[in-house]
Amino acid sequence: MSTPKSERILVTSALPYINGVKHMGNLAGSMLPADVYSRAMRLMGHEVLYICATDEHGTPAELAAAEAGLSVSDYCDKMHTAQAEAGANFKLSYDYFGRSSSEATRRLTQDFALALEANGFLEERTSKQVYSVADGRYLPDRYVEGTCPNCAFEGARGDQCDNCGKLLDPVDLINPYSAVSGSHEVEIRDTNHLYLKQSDMSNKLRAWVETHRADWPTLTTSIAMKWLDEGLRDRAITRDLDWGIPVVDADGNVREGFDGKVFYVWFDAPIAYIGATQDWAAQDHVKATGGAWEKFWRTDKGADSTRYVQFMGKDNVAFHTLSFPTTIMGSGQPWKLVDELKAFNWVTWYGGKFSTSQKRGVFMDQAIDIAPSDYWRWHLMANAPESSDAAFTWEDFQASINSDLANVLGNFVNRITSYCVKKFDGKVPAGGAITDAEKWIENELAERLPRLISFYETREFRKAMAETRAIWAAGNEYLTQAAPWTHYKTDVDQAAMGVRVGLNLVALFGILAQPITPDAAEKILDAMNIPEGNRSWKFGDVSNVAALLDALPHGLEISAPPVLFTKIEAEDIEAWTEKFGGAV
Ligand code: 2FM
Ligand code: ZN
Repeated sequence: MSTPKSERILVTSALPYINGVKHMGNLAGSMLPADVYSRAMRLMGHEVLYICATDEHGTPAELAAAEAGLSVSDYCDKMHTAQAEAGANFKLSYDYFGRSSSEATRRLTQDFALALEANGFLEERTSKQVYSVADGRYLPDRYVEGTCPNCAFEGARGDQCDNCGKLLDPVDLINPYSAVSGSHEVEIRDTNHLYLKQSDMSNKLRAWVETHRADWPTLTTSIAMKWLDEGLRDRAITRDLDWGIPVVDADGNVREGFDGKVFYVWFDAPIAYIGATQDWAAQDHVKATGGAWEKFWRTDKGADSTRYVQFMGKDNVAFHTLSFPTTIMGSGQPWKLVDELKAFNWVTWYGGKFSTSQKRGVFMDQAIDIAPSDYWRWHLMANAPESSDAAFTWEDFQASINSDLANVLGNFVNRITSYCVKKFDGKVPAGGAITDAEKWIENELAERLPRLISFYETREFRKAMAETRAIWAAGNEYLTQAAPWTHYKTDVDQAAMGVRVGLNLVALFGILAQPITPDAAEKILDAMNIPEGNRSWKFGDVSNVAALLDALPHGLEISAPPVLFTKIEAEDIEAWTEKFGGAV
């Protein structure tokens, strides 16, 4: 049911890695649902802060920069801008889109490490690592290749053999070479790193995950429990690398023996949620309105009454339910832990993987040239990979747009607004008596609207979209029952009733469309002449549905909106399949 009071909600979506614009599956499993949820909660009057950022450290960033012929920092600047643009094109309503390379995240990361060490959760250990003499660097596990000691496959990666599937240790590879340069001049050297003692936190983590069994999706708890049941291993949180956050001592000097080492990207990335919130709060316009980051993150400063909701793909769950919480709990400081964690399965491309090189799948920068963002937003959320992986196909995309958006919503809006313009001078008419048709739609909405709100609140996106579609369909059914065009011939007053209720439904649909198809929503609400200040829906108040059906002032001038959705034709599907792949 709707929440009767305003809540403060912090929303984060997994930080997109810097080395490339994301594909539609990534969008569907983190940023888009986080955006739809944030918009829905804002619509209902909650105080929402939606934070995201680019995840900029690590070897892949370094290698991608080298390939692009740029310094890593220039490369990250460029790619951050590209990803911010891609987000804006999809109308992702971040309150702040930051960067994990920011000063705030650097400081926080170093402070967390010092606190963890002071509390006994960090330990310096020596391990063996492959060093490439030709590249002048240590190689991360997956950048060492060689012959699999298990099946003799020649192209096995240091972390796993793609042929037999065995998890490997790169030092066990036969005839190892650098995947960066191909050089065989590699040595195994001893190197020191800081280890996060996750094993010491297991019991506390298990108890905490248990408290969320009821409110987290099974996908989330089952992944966390699987790792806990297998026994948590301590993890190195530093790497031999230049690009990243330096490891310092309590005086702020590089820690002894840690020249040329930085924190592992997965240690600082989640800390960047906090850093980006600090960067958001440091902006002049936020400072001017008294915005503060602490009430979102410090439980001693108000964050205990903040609801923190995270969105991510299933591959990120372990880091968010185990490693990051170890950092938070181990610091011994009053940092906020996640309250609700929504994880997604994969969107596949016709059942297979997205791949740029094999021309399979659409990436965010390409998608927007294919169809407007509303189309993608609706389709991806109506088919969200919630209980299992979900295959994207052009045919399903076409069906979502043509039948749901164009035939059901677009047609309804167009039908009644143009009729009002033609027969009632474009003004919301007064008059008419309540009939069974009005009672029917009132009952439908009284049943469906609370359900819709509740699906948004529990972040069940497929169900929320199905309910939205059913509400649009009910609008069409109402018009069929009320048949103002038939009444018009004999009883203009009664026709006015059908038109008025129809127009109020258009306004309601416009309001409900804001989280999911914001551009169409704006066109609808503009055409209905609804002022900016009246486009919200305080706590999803459904106490008086009859009032919702007569909310527009009688006599208000309205217009028919421009075409909301254009149908996708068979030729479009053919051309897109040719370019981006399709059924094989
Ligand atoms: O999987 C990824 O793309 C990671 N960059 C997600 C990081 S989420 C967070 F912890 F920052
Ligand atoms: Zn093998």
